Amino acid sequence: MIVLGIETSCDETGVALYCGDRGLLSHALYSQVKLHADYGGVVPELASRDHVRKLLPLIHRCLDEAKLNTRHIEGVAYTRGPGLVGALLVGAATGRALAWSLGVPAIGVHHMEGHLLAPLIEPDPPQPPFVALLVSGGHSQLVEVSAIGRYRLLGETLDDAAGEAFDKTAKLLGLAYPGGPELAHLAESGVRGRFTFSRPMTDRPGLQFSFSGLKTQVMLAWRDSDQTAQTRADIALGFQDAVVDTLAIKCERALQATGIKTLVIAGGVGANRDLRRKLAELAQRKHIRVCFPRPEFCTDNGAMIAFAGALRLRAGQHSDATITVQPRWDMAALSAV
Ligand code: KG4
Ligand code: ZN
Repeated sequence: MIVLGIETSCDETGVALYCGDRGLLSHALYSQVKLHADYGGVVPELASRDHVRKLLPLIHRCLDEAKLNTRHIEGVAYTRGPGLVGALLVGAATGRALAWSLGVPAIGVHHMEGHLLAPLIEPDPPQPPFVALLVSGGHSQLVEVSAIGRYRLLGETLDDAAGEAFDKTAKLLGLAYPGGPELAHLAESGVRGRFTFSRPMTDRPGLQFSFSGLKTQVMLAWRDSDQTAQTRADIALGFQDAVVDTLAIKCERALQATGIKTLVIAGGVGANRDLRRKLAELAQRKHIRVCFPRPEFCTDNGAMIAFAGALRLRAGQHSDATITVQPRWDMAALSAV
């Protein structure tokens, strides 16, 4: 079954074609980063308008690359939520209309389920049960996956998401939007040990996170420093180490608590090289398996939506022919596949 996937939940237009037998056939992404850079964050109305401009050309590009045409599409998957309502509506309306005109089923996919399943697009995919660490711009969650579609929240952030903490800290340090990847890049030239920040909520039991206090620590350290380029890099590294260590400690605890031996990482922060290195070390030390998507499938993309949608469509699930989106949507409410 060839499924077209459409992702428009935030500031990236992502499209992909996924085939149950042959895997990923093509994928294309347009990032709106430049459009929002002047404003220091995503402007929802501009995001929606740009999805309108970019979505159809990207669909054509994916079809061309896969040497297919619309008549080969057997199902359509679009992001139904969570996300920005206007942005979601562009993908939902386009996906729905296309499915209706082609007479094929369509399904609204949960964006975070898309992220969570992205590691399964890669060769030798992990099978449930596994623990998933979801770390994106809007979410920081540890989830127990007993089966595809059966998700139990083990812990989440009480305030900022990990990606949000990266972005806000980057802004404090005067880095350009979007700050997360910039900060990670800067940290590569930092000297380890010059600045040490706390590992929030690791001194007590539990699987909750809290990242907003780190921002204040960084702000004070930067304010009271000599504010040279080297100091900025050293602080960036100190911050990144604190986030990465905290995430690794909580992952280890979640594996211990559940007795599960496979850890899956997903979401934008999963592209962070230090996090990948640290969790690979954890895997070796604890004799567990850790799986990441390729970095480009950690951040928002159409492939994860096509893949998650294909699993559900193949199982006979589909949404009814109305254009509905769900800007807030609890993943635990999903049904098993
Ligand atoms: O999953 P994603 O693309 O979008 C959401 O669903 O939120 O995640 C975006 C987040 C941003 O906060 C971005 O700063 C962060 O992921 N991010 C990174 C890196 N690449 C993206 N954070 C740390 N290191 C990176 N290399
Ligand atoms: Zn995302």
